[in-house]
Amino acid sequence: MKIMVVGGGGREHAIIRKLRENPSVTEIFALPGNAGIAQDATCVNVKATDIDGIVNFAVGQGIEFAVVAPDDPLAMGAVDALHAKGIPCFGPVAKAAQIESSKAFAKQMMKKYGIPTAAFEVFEDAQAALDYVRGVKCPVVVKADGLALGKGVLICRTNAEAEEAVRSMMLENRFGSSGATIVVEEFLEGPEVSVLAFTDGNVVRPMTSSMDHKRANDGDEGLNTGGMGTIAPNPYYTPEVAQRCMQEIFLPTIRAMKAEGRTFKGCLYFGLMITADGPKVIEYNCRFGDPETQVVLPLLKSDLFDIMRAVENGTLADVDVQFSDASACCVMLASGGYPESYEKGKVIDLGKAPEMAEVFHSGTGRNADGELVTAGGRVLGVCCVRDTLREAVSAAYAAANQVRFDKLHMRTDIGARALAGLNKTEE
Ligand code: AMP
Ligand code: GLY
Repeated sequence: MKIMVVGGGGREHAIIRKLRENPSVTEIFALPGNAGIAQDATCVNVKATDIDGIVNFAVGQGIEFAVVAPDDPLAMGAVDALHAKGIPCFGPVAKAAQIESSKAFAKQMMKKYGIPTAAFEVFEDAQAALDYVRGVKCPVVVKADGLALGKGVLICRTNAEAEEAVRSMMLENRFGSSGATIVVEEFLEGPEVSVLAFTDGNVVRPMTSSMDHKRANDGDEGLNTGGMGTIAPNPYYTPEVAQRCMQEIFLPTIRAMKAEGRTFKGCLYFGLMITADGPKVIEYNCRFGDPETQVVLPLLKSDLFDIMRAVENGTLADVDVQFSDASACCVMLASGGYPESYEKGKVIDLGKAPEMAEVFHSGTGRNADGELVTAGGRVLGVCCVRDTLREAVSAAYAAANQVRFDKLHMRTDIGARALAGLNKTEE
């Protein structure tokens, strides 16, 4: 089987490593891939947002199955376009991807179907939004409706801050057209849990839970990033919470999408907050998380390609989706300055890290001399699977500390909150 994976980050690297385990997969192409993915697949210089380029390549090469991993091509209809050429895909069609690409759509759907989430109002008119936030109870959360690389969410402690947030999104267009519509919502508190779930539109099979670390610096300080590290499973996701999530959130969401004529097939990412009132949805993503995938897929015992085909064929009920009881930790190594401006082209010395851990490449390339260099904000994800979370965290850091490049930045507390949570549940 010739397959194609659209995307070029650590998430795609982890997906490709797992797909290679299936003996019927003979060839994998990555569009565009990166320097690390090039060791596991054939990289093709087509951007993940070049839908025509993707379709032309797939048709020309006789691709038999496509995995579309990032949010942008999904929202732009990459799966619809590939389906139109008869190519089976893993990933939602554009109509279903809207669960991520429009927060207003997602919130209104949750309200209509009684899915627990923060109370909210949607605004398309700046004056109405300003009037509302002047009197609203703070803290309050102001969100741009569209895709904003995880940066379109502002937590406002005062009414003045909320007014400023509305102004920057709706009047100063800080997030471009993504901020033309905004959602203002109640501030929730509690531990956050990410749950990725396979679904064929009828059946939902949650994967091992995980915890992301979104802020740039230790102690959850600094700006929001795409994610600086992950652990799995998440100790705050107890069996009781999992059962509530299945009944109150996962199944109702799948049914709601189907009822709305937007049947969702692929990986649905539930960003949850475990509040005193129970689990609530913070956000949905229409795809695997990055770097959640780098800790979740190494724990998958079943065959990823078999699951992906079953998702596309609507036969997920018939396949095994089993996870190991072990734990995993992924430490992201980033370019100093990320998520704001940073330099690229720094030569990377991996040391003994590849022998000590799985090293997934996020933003890497080769310079004119063929050396491995940094090529993005997030550069490498260093991941270890061990029997316990404590062991996984210390093994991931031992390997991460092997890697050298100029201005390398990593958090030193990935897993600390989860370990504190574990101690609590064990007490
Ligand atoms: P989002 O892009 O919607 O996932 O939001 C990014 C981050 O902002 C989340 O991971 C949360 O940490 C935080 N956040 C979003 N919505 C809320 C909320 N209603 N209450 C508290 N924190 C929130
Ligand atoms: N790590 C968060 C995301 O993939 O959206």
